[in-house]
Amino acid sequence: MSAYPIIEHEYDVVIVGAGGAGLRAAVGMVEAGLKTAVITKVFPTRSHTVAAQGGVSASLGNMGEDDWRWHMYDTVKGSDWLGDQDAIEYMVREAVPAIIELEHYGLPFSRTEDGKIYQRAFGGMTTRFGEGQAQRTCAAADRTGHAMLHTLYQQALKHHAEFFVEYIALDLLMDPDDGACRGVLAWNLDDGTIHRFRAHSTVLATGGYGRAYFSCTSAHTCTGDGNAMILRAGLPLQDMEFVQFHPTGIYGSGCLITEGVRGEGGYLTNSEGERFMERYAPSAKDLASRDVVSRSMTVEIREGRGVGALKDHIHLHLEHLDPGIIHERLPGIAETAKIFAGVDVTREPIPVLPTVHYNMGGIPTNYHTEVLSPTPEDTDRVVPGLQAIGEAACVSVHGANRLGSNSLLDLVVFGRAAGHRAAATITKGAAHKTLPQQVTDKALTRLDRYRNATGSLRAAHLRLEMQRIMQNNCAVFRTGEVLQEGYDLMQQVWAKRPEIAVSDRSLVWNSDLVEAMELDNLMSQAVATLAPAVARQESRGAHAREDFPDRDDTNWMKHSTVWVDDNGKPTLGDRPVHLYTMSKDVETFPPKKRVY
Ligand code: FUM
Repeated sequence: MSAYPIIEHEYDVVIVGAGGAGLRAAVGMVEAGLKTAVITKVFPTRSHTVAAQGGVSASLGNMGEDDWRWHMYDTVKGSDWLGDQDAIEYMVREAVPAIIELEHYGLPFSRTEDGKIYQRAFGGMTTRFGEGQAQRTCAAADRTGHAMLHTLYQQALKHHAEFFVEYIALDLLMDPDDGACRGVLAWNLDDGTIHRFRAHSTVLATGGYGRAYFSCTSAHTCTGDGNAMILRAGLPLQDMEFVQFHPTGIYGSGCLITEGVRGEGGYLTNSEGERFMERYAPSAKDLASRDVVSRSMTVEIREGRGVGALKDHIHLHLEHLDPGIIHERLPGIAETAKIFAGVDVTREPIPVLPTVHYNMGGIPTNYHTEVLSPTPEDTDRVVPGLQAIGEAACVSVHGANRLGSNSLLDLVVFGRAAGHRAAATITKGAAHKTLPQQVTDKALTRLDRYRNATGSLRAAHLRLEMQRIMQNNCAVFRTGEVLQEGYDLMQQVWAKRPEIAVSDRSLVWNSDLVEAMELDNLMSQAVATLAPAVARQESRGAHAREDFPDRDDTNWMKHSTVWVDDNGKPTLGDRPVHLYTMSKDVETFPPKKRVY
């Protein structure tokens, strides 16, 4: 019997995470009449979506001709043919109604002269299957995520979604009888109480795990808690070796400088003042896809053409742009550059460096947002009662490399899809199955282990060790040797988990305990990233192996899957890429060489 009194809740749906995906799902669920709870570890409008800058893609065609098929082609090519084409078709087609819906919800988009939603150029977004540069990214200046998050939170409140704010999700409640998810156990930081949420569907909208790295654009809260709960439930993660580096993080602090800067005419130079992207991507130049730009910058630095005293970064210029345009369309980054780089962007370039930004990998789902637990016999097997959306999920629409502005799109399209699926499959108010107490006890045992940890190592110390390993050994360029070294070092870090010290034993706002448990979550994902990265002997998208520089479609056009056990030991598997479309309205895009 548990030593903790449990407060019981029953809902049709419980959503974990209140970023763009979680909030959009909540709006759809409550609109469909489902009793919906949203559990979030930070106040909803502080979720990491608030940091998204440049915009959200959709082929509205407000600034010139556009077509969802071109958007689909760009996304398949951007994914380096690892994205599932049925899911990509779903996303780019649903983009248009999903954005119009956001406009009707009140999202304050920037406007064209004739009052339409303003759209800017972004990397890898083209017209006519690669011929021209598309203007497809719908923007609210350079604060699109901020505008989106506030709009969706207001809509969720309007529809009476019930929020449980500053609750830490401890673990999924998995039914040992049939493997279904029956809800989630959570800890209320404010008063220390433990809550059992039972639900017909549990939706993980818990974001990425950028904080496994030393330098990233992600908030400190981005610890991939949902991914880690999946691993603890004995389920796999997918395509974890694909970690996106955003080309323009501010040198030193890692703060994001939006790709929208280059979309508005900004460009990169090396120490010789050369616009070097013209050499690497003669057609798209600074608006090539992110993996290509990040690699080009890294090569420039390695070959001695970096800027600054240490020649270890690159310059991003916007001082040639009309200050009026900067004021109107890029006010946020002008402020960020001033604060974090001491730079007046109307006069000097911003010092930038590729910085970890996004996890293409995550919880495998189909495009209905249902979580998958693949077996060799059924590679699309669904886990009953469990959905995943947003950066936590791997649908897979981004494959090996995500295009900028397809992330906010993924959030709204699949948040919306989660609502549709729940409405179609859940009987409102149906009775909940009783769960054996051992399911709850298992989660509480982990809580107790960290709460009473008496080791000698601060969580922050171990976290730094992990972050340095990931930064050094799982970077823009990789080799088998360096990755294997990273994997071995990470196993040593894992072995130190019993030595973690937590000095505060209370349950009320115990941030010491929260950090230890978040670190535990991050560590399993670090292992889940390194193991398939060692195994994948090819270069594809963000996974650039110097010892295997070419894409190998014969052996490696497949999703990797990884399970991590309680001892930090990974098991690898794979599942096929969906090379078929959702409808007959478009043909499959066959693989070809990826040049920009
Ligand atoms: O550069 C940016 O504004 C980031 C956008 C994205 O990651 O989609």
